[in-house]
Amino acid sequence: MTNHCFRRLGTPLSPSAVKVMLLGAGELGKEVVIALQRLGVEVIAVDRYADAPGMQVAHRSHVISMTDPVALRALIEAERPHLVVPEIEAIATAVLIEIEREGLAEVIPTARAAQLTMNREGIRRLAAEELGLPTSAYAFASSLSELQAAIDGGIGYPCFVKPVMSSSGKGQSLLRGAPDVANAWEFALQSGRVKEARVIVEAFVPFEYEITQLTVRALGLSGAIETFFCEPIGHVQVAGDYVESWQPQPMSSIALERGREIAARITEALGGRGIFGVELFVKGDDVWFSEVSPRPHDTGLVTLASQRQSEFELHARAILGLPVDPDLRRPAASAVIYGGVDARGIAFEGLSDALAVPESDVRLFGKPESFKKRRMGVAVASADDINEARRRAKLAASRVRPVLG
Ligand SMILES: Nc1ncnc2c1ncn2[C@@H]1O[C@H](COP(=O)(O)OP(=O)(O)OP(=O)(O)O)[C@@H](O)[C@H]1O
Ligand SMILES: [Mg+2]
Repeated sequence: MTNHCFRRLGTPLSPSAVKVMLLGAGELGKEVVIALQRLGVEVIAVDRYADAPGMQVAHRSHVISMTDPVALRALIEAERPHLVVPEIEAIATAVLIEIEREGLAEVIPTARAAQLTMNREGIRRLAAEELGLPTSAYAFASSLSELQAAIDGGIGYPCFVKPVMSSSGKGQSLLRGAPDVANAWEFALQSGRVKEARVIVEAFVPFEYEITQLTVRALGLSGAIETFFCEPIGHVQVAGDYVESWQPQPMSSIALERGREIAARITEALGGRGIFGVELFVKGDDVWFSEVSPRPHDTGLVTLASQRQSEFELHARAILGLPVDPDLRRPAASAVIYGGVDARGIAFEGLSDALAVPESDVRLFGKPESFKKRRMGVAVASADDINEARRRAKLAASRVRPVLG
């Protein structure tokens, strides 16, 4: 396996260039591209639609279906990047395994991590059954009768049903009793990423709050890979989609330590270099592992305002084998700006009012098409404490008005 820890960075668009291919070029990818561009890395952005946010700041871009193994392999062979960096889950990960095995490119953090985390079954079995990490009670089902049997056999109500291949809350239901089971099964079936009839059913965890523990695996001063932790990020989810986040989330010292222990163990098991978003549920001193993304996390957009190196800069540095500094600079918060309308080429008004909020900033992602509930931008703001930061971020976001272009 290749293991590039770049002793030198070349000139983009020349034979000395260090080349990075991003698979997925949304708003998180866009910030990673910008961070890489600042270090003179040649960046190739890939997504399934033209003019994706990351494409607009990359050296070049390609539109392919990343779940198509033939197209994905052909593109990697044609571009010969040093690093392949997944930004989304829906990728033909079998190709990434081949690419890594053949030494054609290094996959970030590892091909196995991309494969395990794209399927809830892979990552849950690793976390709970191999590593023994605390999780909700869970079971998998491939039919309505299996689902009912799993619930009756111990999961109970309330519980969550989720397609094993899905993200952003798609196809997810909260079941309060037996009358909800058939609908939840149908909904999961219709909304899963692939037409495989398989779901996870999870007991409801009565958490007080949930966090993202951003965890970076990067080369330390010793020259070996070390684990670095950002301050915990608190967030609010509505229908499986994040609407607000802040950092640092106050935690008991025991819960903080337990969360970091869980994060260290799951990220070590996945291996490689880069940033991971470890999602945890917390109640008092108790911490449950929920899931992990081996890439920047949407709730981590807050780090654009809170940290000296945002999660995107940390990722860029870690994957290139450079030192990282995960320290918090100032409490901050983020608030999502939704499209509000279904239209292409929309415009945004109210920016001068939004940016008049103290210590605020706005990112407009440049997505070519808006949907009512599509994330089109984010407002971030810092302050002396998280409550004031949240107030400022929400105020700034509320002042940005998407309108028909
Ligand atoms: N077992 C559970 N108990 C309590 N709440 C849960 C449970 N599972 C999920 N949730 C709630 O639903 C949210 C979304 O769940 P999850 O992260 O599994 O979905 P997702 O589709 O992967 O979403 P995303 O891609 O946005 O992370 C969680 O952040 C949490 O608020
Ligand atoms: Mg999640």
